Amino acid sequence: MLTDKCIIVGVTGGIAAYKAPDLISKLVKAGVDVHIIMTESAAKFITPLTLQTISRNPVTTQMFEFPGEWEVQHISLADRADLMVVAPATANIIGKVCAGIADDILSTTIMATRAPVLFAPAMNVHMYENPIVQANIAKLSSLGCHFLEPGTGRLACGYEGKGRLPDVDIIFDKICSLTVSTRDLTGKTFLVTAGPTREYIDPIRFLSNGSTGKMGYAVAEAARERGARVILISGPVSIPVPPGVTYIPVVSARDMFEAVVKHYQEADVVVKTAAVADYHPKKQLGSKLKKGRDDWALELTKNEDILQYLGRNKGNRILIGFAAETDNLLENATRKIRDKNLDFIVANDVTQPGAGFGTDTNVVKFLYRDGRVEQMDKMGKKEVAHHIVDRILSLQETLARGGS
Ligand code: PMT
Repeated sequence: MLTDKCIIVGVTGGIAAYKAPDLISKLVKAGVDVHIIMTESAAKFITPLTLQTISRNPVTTQMFEFPGEWEVQHISLADRADLMVVAPATANIIGKVCAGIADDILSTTIMATRAPVLFAPAMNVHMYENPIVQANIAKLSSLGCHFLEPGTGRLACGYEGKGRLPDVDIIFDKICSLTVSTRDLTGKTFLVTAGPTREYIDPIRFLSNGSTGKMGYAVAEAARERGARVILISGPVSIPVPPGVTYIPVVSARDMFEAVVKHYQEADVVVKTAAVADYHPKKQLGSKLKKGRDDWALELTKNEDILQYLGRNKGNRILIGFAAETDNLLENATRKIRDKNLDFIVANDVTQPGAGFGTDTNVVKFLYRDGRVEQMDKMGKKEVAHHIVDRILSLQETLARGGS
């Protein structure tokens, strides 16, 4: 998605500057033409030579360096950029840009560019919570700048709290969202399911699972950004609905079944990311069950397998399933491809760190009908989503050429 994009990475003077090489290296691997601008303070934490070696481009630190080409340096870079990302962004650079100060090469380039600007703040928790910093972030956001939330945890200064540089995978995902210009899904309709289902026992208790909807919403958002019409059918989650999708909230597996079947005819592609409950209580009580008995057996009955139903009525559609496994990943996921008549399945071993439920990243394998297996590295869920879309497109091309 990022091949041949020109991205300026601004590095400012905080301890998190040591993480900038990871981001730069990931961008370079993705085919991006990366240009680094460092503040003088940043150069105290990490050397320009390090970033030059990783980015394979000269690093700019000074306003009045003799330009290699006959162009005014900050203007030429600012004009060429598809995006500027400041990572880490200190309270100082946020404050300067907010006040319209352009007194070094980084603040001047931010001022001069018409490309989207993304800040990835990293600082002490009290600095981040300072109302002045918060007001600056609010003002810049209202003026069209983009901000990522810092991560929470132990900070270099010894405090616990919000202030860590967001995970490199999260920064990368956001960069993808802000720079995607490919409209290769125009004319296609994607039906995406996400989140958990809830199977109520009584009016206040239910059986469910830990799906947060992050993976499914990332698929919906990626497809939408690439031009698809997207119908997102989601169980109860608390993350924002991606802009531009048709959103259909559901609660139980039976609700999801009904909604999916209703919209199936319209879909060219179905991606079933939802973690659907396999069973529901045989009886749903009309009022709250009172505590009393020491033992209590709950009788469950099977839900319809939605994906299997779709697989039996597949027609020309592309059907993608997910498999969340804790053991025998390949064996179990391969069986699901066959049983549900899928084109491919995205298998995640949910016991792996950074994979599965609730995480911002995932570690997946793509398994195909012909037995091929593709192992992916750990990456942000949005990046996984774009890989899924890429594979759907190449599958459609193969089918259009008469392949299988
Ligand atoms: O939402 P997140 O917190 O980001 O977490 C992401 C995830 C872990 C939920 C996601 O990556 C994932 O693995 N989703 C599928 C989870 C799952 O329940 O898999 P399964 O092996 O039980 O089901 C296999 C496939 O059949 C899935 O595509 C599922 O949607 C579908 N299914 C299952 C049961 C059922 N009754 N109907 C179905 O359609």
